Amino acid sequence: MRFTVNGVEREFAGDGDMPLLWYLRDHARLTGTKYGCGAGICGACTVLVDGQPQRACLLPVATLAGRAVRTIEGLGESGLHAVQKAWIEEDVAQCGYCQAGQILAAAALLERRPDPSPEDVDTITNYCRCGTYARIRRAIARAARELSAK
Ligand code: FES
Ligand code: FES
Repeated sequence: MRFTVNGVEREFAGDGDMPLLWYLRDHARLTGTKYGCGAGICGACTVLVDGQPQRACLLPVATLAGRAVRTIEGLGESGLHAVQKAWIEEDVAQCGYCQAGQILAAAALLERRPDPSPEDVDTITNYCRCGTYARIRRAIARAARELSAK
């Protein structure tokens, strides 16, 4: 099957039941996407598929034919994305393990809700074991301001 990852055409002829997370890390060598629970709960493996956040640990590669995958490595198509810049400004990351997924989930939220309410932010269900949630909220607000000023 064919699909794109970060705008690059990919072809995969292996086991279509393989979760996208394994494909990204072991085949494409894109290790920014992390393995956490492996059960669709934590969100560490979040990527965007056709712009929507998806748990890559649960998504069989066979479902990706003709679709566009974006990972943390390709979020900023030319330099850092506004969400990544806001993350740096707000010094969000602690251990960092969950942060690629958090950033992608936040970028997708701001695509559909450019001025998100606290309730909108609560729709992001990615876990952070380091408890960086307050900084994540500040960074999302900062990125929203930045993007609306463009
Ligand atoms: S590793 Fe995919 S949701 Fe936890
Ligand atoms: S920064 Fe450590 S798990 Fe989120």
